[in-house]
Amino acid sequence: MQVGIDQIGLYTPNKYVDMVDLAHARNEDPNKYLIGIGQTQMSVADSTQDSVSMGINSARRYIDQIDKDKVGLLVLGTESSVDQSKSASLFVKTALQLKPEVRTFEVKEACFGLTAALMIARDYVRVHPEHTVIVIGSDIARYGVNTPGEVTQGAGSISMLIKTDPRILSLNDGHSAYSANINDFWRPNNSKTALVDGKYSTQVYLDFFTKPFNDYKKLKGWSTQDFGSLIYHLPFTKMGLKANRLSVEGQDETTSKRLEKSFAASKQLSKRIGNIYTAALYMSLLSLIENAQLEPNSLIGLFSYGSGAMAEFFSGNLVDGYEEVIDKSGDVRMLDRRKKLTIKEYENIFNKALMDPEDGVELVSDEENGNWYFAGTKNHVRQYKQK
Ligand code: HMG
Repeated sequence: MQVGIDQIGLYTPNKYVDMVDLAHARNEDPNKYLIGIGQTQMSVADSTQDSVSMGINSARRYIDQIDKDKVGLLVLGTESSVDQSKSASLFVKTALQLKPEVRTFEVKEACFGLTAALMIARDYVRVHPEHTVIVIGSDIARYGVNTPGEVTQGAGSISMLIKTDPRILSLNDGHSAYSANINDFWRPNNSKTALVDGKYSTQVYLDFFTKPFNDYKKLKGWSTQDFGSLIYHLPFTKMGLKANRLSVEGQDETTSKRLEKSFAASKQLSKRIGNIYTAALYMSLLSLIENAQLEPNSLIGLFSYGSGAMAEFFSGNLVDGYEEVIDKSGDVRMLDRRKKLTIKEYENIFNKALMDPEDGVELVSDEENGNWYFAGTKNHVRQYKQK
């Protein structure tokens, strides 16, 4: 039975910071951010966007094209939770007007969250082939104003429909996982910004890539040459470039060129949006299929990494006709219509978003990329509204 990705929806908020402006404000050489980190812009979420509203907005990119009655499961991966008990997916399910019989919950393991949701979905569809599953990754990466991690922030969501006979990517059996209890990046309950051992985290990422990638090739009896493309969790695009350099090491020229070209295509969205944690790998997938010339049935290898740390390598084959399902021009429009913030405006928005809104005070949104937003709390109950 073929099970995999049938729809992908992207959402990112309607404001961004230009990395050259940020570099000037932080007294850094712009090339450090543009080349050294590999980022040109980053999306900024104001107080009216959170993991719930962004998740709704990404699923709404395709929700009107699917049979909602077939959805049996909705899983949302996030590390930007809005509640310690209630799942963000319940708010999303209600906004999407899915039926009460849907099973729904939230999962967490840093940036691995959406991969966890995807694997749960794949197994669920194998048992319930008549059902479809919506999986969502939705996050705001916040390290803080004037921190080394600042240039690697971002905000956004990816939602995917998982079903039999998928029209975008058919997932292959088997995976290689690797996990260990380490402290490279985490966010304690009392903090709105992440704590990180930056340099250590980049080394761990590469170690955690090498092991499952090699294990996976052994498991399947494949070599690096068999892959049409390799895509990576992208906290910033230079991180993926470093992993891709390891992948092409010792390969023939044709393989190296192919993997370098496909990596270049896969980083285009990340370069302009920044880190969206759980959804970052799937934004690389979307960017790849929107920007690369891929062979029919091309084999795509996917590397998922969540700090703490949990890594997994798996693969899928591209399905013929995928171009007709994705909405590249819609994604381009969404990025182009974002408003560029001055650094002062960004800092004000950032600092305001760190504070919980006063209960009973309604928030007003200027969001245009998606029409759902967080409107504040009433009697400490979160309110989500549609413009
Ligand atoms: P830093 O200390 O500001 O940067 O922190 P640096 O001094 O290491 O410089 C960065 C690169 O720019 C270096 O290149 C420099 O040489 C280069 P590299 O050695 O890495 O190849 N550079 C220049 N290049 C061109 N022209 C110049 C110039 N100057 C310097 N003039 C760091 C960088 C990434 C550590 C920091 O931003 C950070 O802590 N970010 C957050 C942590 C992170 O993203 N880690 C990634 C791995 S962990 C992960 O992926 C999981 C995560 O997504 C969370 C989750 O799972 O939930 C984060």
